[in-house]
Amino acid sequence: MPTRLSSPDSRPTLTLHFEQREISARQGDSVASALLAAGIKRFRTTPVSATPRGPYCMMGVCFDCLLVVDGVPNQQGCQVQVRDGMRIERQLGAAEITP
Ligand code: FES
Repeated sequence: MPTRLSSPDSRPTLTLHFEQREISARQGDSVASALLAAGIKRFRTTPVSATPRGPYCMMGVCFDCLLVVDGVPNQQGCQVQVRDGMRIERQLGAAEITP
């Protein structure tokens, strides 16, 4: 399980809402690192077989970290910084895209 390298951490603590859970994050975390530190490993399911996926590269290449962030689908968790009060959900299957 991923763990934080430095402890104690002097950065401010933020609260995120992941589905029905509240989780703590540190200012400057990516959404993916905050979820992984909270023990959440499954971020999305594939559109065809519903296979669970979680972050792999942590640098914006693999797209296995797609989430719905504040109601917006297809957000790369490893590329989005946390904000206090952010609402995050798993992305299940293909996202609805409206023009
Ligand atoms: S973990 Fe690979 S794009 Fe985010």
